[in-house]
Amino acid sequence: MKNQPTRRDFLGATTAAGLLGAGLLPVHSEASSTPRPAMKNDKIVLGLIGCGGMGAADMRNLMGFPEVEVAALCDVDAGRMPRDIANVEEKYGRKPEVFHDYRKMLERKDINGIIVGTPDHWHALNLIHSCQTDKDVYCEKPISHDITEAKAMLAAATHYKKIVQVGTWQRSTTEFYSAIDYIRSGKLGRVIHVRAWTCDGARMGKHSAGKPVPDNFNYDMWVGPSKMVPYIPEYTHGNWRWFLNFGCGLTGDWGVHMMDIGLLAMSKDTDLPMPVEVSAYGGAMAWPDDDRTAPDTHLAIMKFKDPDFIMQWETGRDHPDRPNHGTEFIAEDGKSLMVWRGGWKVRDADGKNIPVENISVPTDHWRNWVDCVKSREQPRSNISSMAQTTIVCHLANAALLAGESVRWSKEKMDIVGRAGKNTSSYKREYRKPYSLQTKFA
Ligand SMILES: NC(=O)c1ccc[n+]([C@@H]2O[C@H](COP(=O)([O-])OP(=O)(O)OC[C@H]3O[C@@H](n4cnc5c(N)ncnc54)[C@H](O)[C@@H]3O)[C@@H](O)[C@H]2O)c1
Repeated sequence: MKNQPTRRDFLGATTAAGLLGAGLLPVHSEASSTPRPAMKNDKIVLGLIGCGGMGAADMRNLMGFPEVEVAALCDVDAGRMPRDIANVEEKYGRKPEVFHDYRKMLERKDINGIIVGTPDHWHALNLIHSCQTDKDVYCEKPISHDITEAKAMLAAATHYKKIVQVGTWQRSTTEFYSAIDYIRSGKLGRVIHVRAWTCDGARMGKHSAGKPVPDNFNYDMWVGPSKMVPYIPEYTHGNWRWFLNFGCGLTGDWGVHMMDIGLLAMSKDTDLPMPVEVSAYGGAMAWPDDDRTAPDTHLAIMKFKDPDFIMQWETGRDHPDRPNHGTEFIAEDGKSLMVWRGGWKVRDADGKNIPVENISVPTDHWRNWVDCVKSREQPRSNISSMAQTTIVCHLANAALLAGESVRWSKEKMDIVGRAGKNTSSYKREYRKPYSLQTKFA
């Protein structure tokens, strides 16, 4: 049985790994920090890291654009790749190059764009190494597994002047775009309360270790910088999000979409308001015996200053009087706006609908990244803005894990005081030999 491969198994997985050193930095020279000139006619040659549900969907969307070409795919589980290999072959009449160690793929100098479609615990290293090897990035959300990683990722993308679009595609759809414009233009009035929510039905049950790791799955590298745990197939692909060792629970998974809309509507541009204080309650309340480690019930309350409002984030059981996810804005006079995937509505204080008009979004989310890679402008879900939303999710988790309120300074981009700093949502320990570079000079 190969439950816990040794460091030697891991290093043996690729010849490049031996060259990388303890920091696991990519082997070739770091990219210049001078900005790349606008690329008007060049091809965007893509590599995909993580051929799972969303990475593959991102790839398929990007393959629809004539200036995009997919050159290579990488997954630590070869069993996840055949469908995507076939899609690329069908589209371009040739197979993509196949990798099982993304650092080898990053050595290809002709690749200038990377899709990060791995689970949350891998995003930071995937993105930082991509920036260091001169690649722009389409990175899935939440950007990071903890606050320290989010800051390091922003620092890397800024230093290497890379164009990063994060996969919060709601920012590029008619209903959310229109609702945000309505709030920002003042039509709802002064908003004092934002509610964001989704429902949690993901019960894992109980499973035990003992099944062998399939031969074509490098489980050690799948676990990557996280704490090594015995292999349980039911807790890997797709379900990793319910284990805080790998994901951030529903707060990172959906909070990053629904709270993002709250923050974006309450801002003037993509620089978002940040809470000054966050408190949270919840835990394994519905299914106390379930194996998942992410809370099944989570209520976080956040206080904002200038503008002054409160935002609440809620995940728990479904109930019939509202969509199963959404963001709602309540103005001082009781008027409200609710938006969800597929619609939005404005009501007066008595609950009567007020007619609204949609605004069309100039481009879709993936096209927006392609356009920005070419023009070197910042995309709609740029890394700076999405580091802020992601940190808000981590603060909600940190307050729950710490069992006390956590204070935040937007100016210092850090937690104020000690509360929350000893949680994995602030900074998790990296499993050796992985390490996180936090400064880029
Ligand atoms: N934007 C959205 O609406 C949306 C929707 C779903 C998921 N997501 C995000 O997309 C990401 C992936 O989620 P998913 O549901 O597709 O997960 P998944 O488990 O289905 O797929 C992840 C894939 O990454 C591979 N992988 C893991 N570590 C790797 C490594 N080091 N190198 C190469 N491959 C590696 C896995 O083997 C797996 O095939 C997550 O961050 C998730 O939050 C975004």
